[in-house]
Amino acid sequence: MGITWKNLLTLILSVAATVMVINNAPADDEAIFPMPAGKTYVEECGSCHTAYAPGLLPARSWRRMMGELDNHFGEDASLSEPQQLEILKALETLAADGNQANMRMRRIHGAIPAGTAPQRISETGYFKFMHDEVRPSIWKRKKIGTLANCIACHTRANEGRYGEREVRIPQ
Ligand code: HEC
Ligand code: HEC
Repeated sequence: MGITWKNLLTLILSVAATVMVINNAPADDEAIFPMPAGKTYVEECGSCHTAYAPGLLPARSWRRMMGELDNHFGEDASLSEPQQLEILKALETLAADGNQANMRMRRIHGAIPAGTAPQRISETGYFKFMHDEVRPSIWKRKKIGTLANCIACHTRANEGRYGEREVRIPQ
């Protein structure tokens, strides 16, 4: 059973087919999270830091956070009641445990112990797992500063995009 041209062609075709399947992988496989429609969320929750994708935390985390905005990590991030309700609704709908959650969001939720409502994405198991190769000295760079500064490296984080191709670690 030597290598014939026919064998070789079959091999090339099957490799090409595999590459195409990988390129056409469903959006579920890409680190893209749905974001609330309209500008309110990015304007109100993206003014001090990245507008975090709702799918990075479960609904119970967002409910707790939205209930104590007057003391938000030591800041007053209070909103008018209509805005607060609008944002909470969007966060709950698109949360990691929401009805429309994709596989990645379900994994994020699965790694959060039941009965806890973490307020920091950067302290969740999923975040730690995804960033275990980023050296501690990198987080301390001036242009990054804190783990919560997603947009320093994930250039399109405000659109919910965290894909590998859009990561640029500032020097
Ligand atoms: C007045 C400024 C301000 C506004 C407005 C604000 N935040 Fe924050 N937020 C902070 C600060 C400060 C921290 C702590 C950041 C850090 O440790 O680097 C924080 C942290 C967070 C974190 C945790 C980040 C992490 O994983 O460590 C989340 C989630 C969050 N904010 C969501 C929101 C949401 C949702 C809104 C809109 C309702 C909002 N923030 C509006 C100041 C603000
Ligand atoms: C120091 C730069 C840096 C910061 C800041 C940072 N990340 Fe990352 N992130 C990375 C790198 C590097 C990877 C690994 C790239 C890869 O393999 O996709 C990664 C991977 C990820 C992934 C998985 C991407 C994938 O393709 O599966 C997600 C989701 C993610 N980060 C979310 C966040 C969130 C949310 C924040 C802020 C709370 C954040 N990151 C802050 C550098 C950073």
